[in-house]
Amino acid sequence: MVGTKGRGSNMLAIIEASRSEGLPASVELVIAPGEQAPALAVAAENGVKTAVVPAGDSYADEVGQALKDNGIEMICLAGYMRLLSLEILQKYPNRVLNIHPALLPKFGGKGMYGHHVHEAVLAAGEQESGCTVHYVSEQYDEGAIIHQRRCPVLPDDTPETLAARVLKEEHLAYPEAIRMVLSA
Ligand code: GRF
Repeated sequence: MVGTKGRGSNMLAIIEASRSEGLPASVELVIAPGEQAPALAVAAENGVKTAVVPAGDSYADEVGQALKDNGIEMICLAGYMRLLSLEILQKYPNRVLNIHPALLPKFGGKGMYGHHVHEAVLAAGEQESGCTVHYVSEQYDEGAIIHQRRCPVLPDDTPETLAARVLKEEHLAYPEAIRMVLSA
């Protein structure tokens, strides 16, 4: 599941890993909350089925139905900004994953998304950052950590240069984490 503004680069990394690196999984459906999500076009170009489920009263039911109709066994959130309903989380115990562009438990929680994360890392004078793939619990960024990859923070980093370095690690970390979950 991707966000409205999500580029879909993590989604693409997972699709590619599932096709070329022997990841024992396939990406069957990409769900976004709005038609304008750039990731939808990327998914379609790669032959992956897409669905748009906008926010609204029937949101949880519609997402649940789309997952069921497509036989989905694992949900990977990538740039997805909404909280998933408790109902969906309960239907997929230990099968809902998210990626966060910092080394949780630091720099997570409310308001910690996109450039805010990297700004906070730089403001704190950290020498290291990275990314975290974690299970999704009812509280964002608080589910158990599955996997982290690290990278240095360089003295002349801006939020943009740091984000780019972290993103490279994200693209490796997400497929690795999926593999770990599936072989656990
Ligand atoms: C990534 O930085 C991820 O950590 C965060 O949202 C961003 C999504 O990027 N949760 P992309 O759409 O996968 O390129």
